[in-house]
Amino acid sequence: MISKKMESALNEQIGLEGYASFLYLSMASWCEREGLEGCARFLYRQSDEERMHMLRIFRYINEVDGHAVSPSIAQPALEFDSVQALFKQVYEHEQKVTRAINTLVALSYEEKDHTTLSFLQWYVNEQREEEALMRGILDRIRLIGDGPRSLYYIDKEVDQINQQTTAGEGGETA
Ligand code: FEO
Repeated sequence: MISKKMESALNEQIGLEGYASFLYLSMASWCEREGLEGCARFLYRQSDEERMHMLRIFRYINEVDGHAVSPSIAQPALEFDSVQALFKQVYEHEQKVTRAINTLVALSYEEKDHTTLSFLQWYVNEQREEEALMRGILDRIRLIGDGPRSLYYIDKEVDQINQQTTAGEGGETA
C-alpha cells in the first residue's frame, strides 16, 4: 500500500518522464528535417527510453495498490535554434529529472517507504548515466566547434554514441 502523498508525487514523475519522451520526439523530428539523421536516431531512441521510464513508474504505482494516472502532456517546442542549443536543453531537462528523482527519494525516507525507496534506486543510477551521456555529447559538440562541416561531424559523432549506447543496452536502433 502506498501513501496518497507518495502516489501523487510518483504520478507527477510520470508526467515529467512522459514530457521528456514527447520533447525528445519533437527534437528527433526537427533533426530529421535538418538532415541530422544520426541525431534523429539518437533522439528517437531516447524518446522510447523515456516512455519506458514513464511506464515503469506507472506499473509500479498500480502494483503497490495505488492509481497510476495517464498524464496530460504539454506541447513541446517544435523548433530549435541549433543542434548545440537542442542538446543543451536535453541536458538541462535531464538535470531537472534528477532533481525530481532526488525529491522522491527524500520523500520515501520521510515516509519510511522502503519499497518505493528501493524501487527508486534504478532511477538514481539511470539519471547518473543519462547526465553523463548528455554531458559527453555537449563536450564533443564543443570540441568539434562551429567551423565548416561541423554539423556533419556532430551528426556522425552523435550517431556513433547512439550505436555504442544501443550496444551497451543490448537493444536495437530506432
Ligand atoms: Fe527518464 Fe532521462 O529521464
